Amino acid sequence: MASGAARYDGHSEWYDEHHGPVHRPAEELAFLREALGTGHGQVCVDLACGTGLWAQPLAEAGYRAAGFDISADQLRFARRRHAAVARADICSLPVRDESVSVVVGMFFHTDLEDFAGALREVARCLRPRGRFVYAGMHPCFLGPFVNRTSEAAEHRLEFLPGYGRVGWANRGSGDGTGLGSRVGFHHKTLASFLGAILTSGLQVRDVREFASTGVILPRNIGLVAEKPEISWAPRR
Ligand SMILES: C[S@@+](CC[C@H](N)C(=O)[O-])C[C@H]1O[C@@H](n2cnc3c(N)ncnc32)[C@H](O)[C@@H]1O
Repeated sequence: MASGAARYDGHSEWYDEHHGPVHRPAEELAFLREALGTGHGQVCVDLACGTGLWAQPLAEAGYRAAGFDISADQLRFARRRHAAVARADICSLPVRDESVSVVVGMFFHTDLEDFAGALREVARCLRPRGRFVYAGMHPCFLGPFVNRTSEAAEHRLEFLPGYGRVGWANRGSGDGTGLGSRVGFHHKTLASFLGAILTSGLQVRDVREFASTGVILPRNIGLVAEKPEISWAPRR
């Protein structure tokens, strides 16, 4: 699947019902709130904002959030939650260089091939000392190489071959949510996930692992990265 394809178009009703604000995971929400601090009315970018699941905590923390997503269908919902939204590819944002202090990205690295391109764009838009706050599926513990559907009931999970294969997968996240089979799933190893952050020039300041609904292994990962005062990453 092409990275720019709006794969969520036609699935947003379902997505918002199953992943909307009432399903916001608690640990990730607490992490986001902690990482955000207080916005004092500053603008913050919500990257790949989807239906605007995180709009409320961003507003409560005192940010004026601008949400960007490639799916017009997702933005139908996000428009009701965010003060401002626009349809854009996150690898080419309509945002001025070094103009924002905080960029938030939640649960999108498995939805596009070019995570590194998105992070280069984050680094371009952030002011020096600006923060990127991200949470998403843990590359080691959710993906086409794992079956976690029996985890809660039987305290058992199964690892299958395929962890090392970066790319679009036929199977989804392996937890039975059905999202991957609807919209596709781009698996990244931990090295390719972290490598994308490192090559952007952003400096990782904090890493967390979230159990979420997992009872054996974590399901999600969170990190905070900062744009250094003097950037070394090559400009495009
Ligand atoms: C799993 S959803 C996450 C949405 C939201 N952040 C959340 O936590 O609910 C992934 C989102 O990434 C968007 N997306 C995928 N590739 C994109 C791209 N290249 N540019 C902008 N948005 C993209 C999809 O349209 C989808 O809304």
